[in-house]
Amino acid sequence: MYILGIETSCDETAAAIVQDGHCIVANVVSSQVDIHARYGGIVPEVASRQHLLSMIPVIDKALEQASMKLADIDALAVTHGPGLAGSLLVGVNTAKSISFACGIPLIGVNHLEAHIYANWLGKKRPDLPLICLIVSGGHTDLVLMKDHSEYCLLGHTRDDAAGEAFDKAARILGLGYPGGPAVDRAAELGITDIELPRAWLKGTYDFSFSGLKTCLLRMKQSGKINNVNSAAASFRQAVVDVLVHKVTSAAREFGVNQILLSGGVAANRLLRSEITSKSVIPVSIPSPPLCTDNAAMVAACGYFQAGRRAPDGLNLDASPSLRMV
Ligand code: KG4
Ligand code: ZN
Repeated sequence: MYILGIETSCDETAAAIVQDGHCIVANVVSSQVDIHARYGGIVPEVASRQHLLSMIPVIDKALEQASMKLADIDALAVTHGPGLAGSLLVGVNTAKSISFACGIPLIGVNHLEAHIYANWLGKKRPDLPLICLIVSGGHTDLVLMKDHSEYCLLGHTRDDAAGEAFDKAARILGLGYPGGPAVDRAAELGITDIELPRAWLKGTYDFSFSGLKTCLLRMKQSGKINNVNSAAASFRQAVVDVLVHKVTSAAREFGVNQILLSGGVAANRLLRSEITSKSVIPVSIPSPPLCTDNAAMVAACGYFQAGRRAPDGLNLDASPSLRMV
């Protein structure tokens, strides 16, 4: 079964073709990073206009990469939330138009669930039940996945998402945009010599990163930061310590078979190495390009939904605040 995935929830216009939920046949991502860099963050109106320009060329390129036509596609999977309303509308309406014009079944996909399914895009299949940490620009969710479509939200951030915290730290330290990769790169050149707080929120699987960010800001304002690389390293360590502790504790408590990481922050080098070395059960992390937004994960997620429920109708709408569970 060939699924064409479409992703436009934020600032990447993406299309991919995935066979049977595992095998990537084509994967195209058109990033708007350069366009938003001059504003230091994503401008929603600019993002949706850019999606309009890129959407059809990106789908054409994916079909060309796969040497396929729309007639060869068995189903369409499109992110319909959560995300920026104007951005989501471009993907959803494009998918609905293709579905209507070509008679291809349509499956609306939750972007956060799609991030989890990036872990199915490979040779090794994740082993259920499992604990998944979704760490993106807008979310930090710790999820117990008992089976496909069976989730239990164990904890989430009470303020900033992990990716948002990295982005804000980059701005405080003058490391530019996009912030997460910039902090990660700088941290590789520094040492963890600054004491920063960790919000353990004991007895819960919730997270909080705004106090850590404010502490970094106060240190910067009072001239206590001499080396930006070491400040980045100390900040990265503080975020990773909490993430790794909560994920491994949840895995122990629920006796799962595996840990999955997903979302843009799962591309972080320290997070990848620490979770792998500290977990006593197998850990799956997508390759960095499959951690950040892409449409292959949307197609993979759509494949597992297609086998479990009826397709969506043309009344499928963008749901900017769709939740994971
Ligand atoms: O999943 P994603 O591509 O988009 C959302 O769904 O939000 O995640 C983007 C987030 C951004 O906040 C970005 O700064 C962060 O992921 N990110 C990283 C790294 N690469 C991307 N954060 C830390 N280290 C990285 N290497
Ligand atoms: Zn995402």
